[in-house]
Amino acid sequence: MNILRKLALSASVIALGCSSAMAADLTVGFSQIGSESGWRAAETSVTKQEAEKRGITLKFADAQQKQENQIKALRGFIAQGVDAILVAPVVATGWEDVLTEAKEANIPVILLDRGVDAPQDLYLTSVASDQVKEGRVAGEWLVKTVGDKPCKVVELQGTVGSTPAINRKKGFEEALAGHANITIARSQTGDFTRAKGKEVMEGFIKAENGGKDICAMYAHNDDMAVGGIQAIKDAGLKPGTDILVASIDAVPDIFAAMVAGEANATVELTPNMAGPAFDALAAFLKDGKQPEKFIITESKLYTPADNPQGEYDSRKGLGY
Ligand code: AHR
Repeated sequence: MNILRKLALSASVIALGCSSAMAADLTVGFSQIGSESGWRAAETSVTKQEAEKRGITLKFADAQQKQENQIKALRGFIAQGVDAILVAPVVATGWEDVLTEAKEANIPVILLDRGVDAPQDLYLTSVASDQVKEGRVAGEWLVKTVGDKPCKVVELQGTVGSTPAINRKKGFEEALAGHANITIARSQTGDFTRAKGKEVMEGFIKAENGGKDICAMYAHNDDMAVGGIQAIKDAGLKPGTDILVASIDAVPDIFAAMVAGEANATVELTPNMAGPAFDALAAFLKDGKQPEKFIITESKLYTPADNPQGEYDSRKGLGY
């Protein structure tokens, strides 16, 4: 957005007596990764709702998990002269050129839920969780739960090269450091999908004495955990008892699994990244207020002690 446009927008907001710059007629492009998980579907629904609430026209582009599609979408938004861009970057690297193009066109870019390896001046703000903390919270839960017993863990990683996969692995390993009784025996990507989570877990089970040698499954998201739970059941074992299950997202299906005694812990990731993003954008457009570079959402641990049925009920209508 150029400065004249920004001033014109602020003037029209004042003239209208609106409390939020978002009441003005804004068009925002949103490049979403795809629909690999229940959490992603909820983030898409919530972003559309948050835009509608504020009277923002949202141009939505589904990248079908491909970075090249995201870059193409961003270039399309720049060519159309949108007022701002939201992007959930599928992987961390390869963004510098297109973000520079947006900056040169004076279009503010906000990162949602994943980070990039690019200079921070190329985006207005990033709204995401502390992904290292998410991994650490899951790891600390496991350390506390198994105590001194020997425990072989299998890990289902997220999309290779994505910040949640990198950081959730790091945080989990940090929590396990100094606890030699707990080891990560196998670790492989399940690409954040239920189908691949199941497939990878089947391989782990075969390689680990039919699953009998596995003490815990740590999945970088709930969808892979749900796929893994199915693989454990297919192998004749009890998820949640024979093999502990810890994951991240807090989607309704993992609470259903907790109710059934088949999952033990999840770390919540809110799907509402767009609300704080639009608020930061509104403040920026209103008076040039620079938001915090990183707006961090909460990472709360849920276990079967936290009323999983109630959590399921409260989330099931949210678009997951
Ligand atoms: O970037 C957030 C992660 O992406 C979510 O944890 C996962 O479910 C999604 O695919």
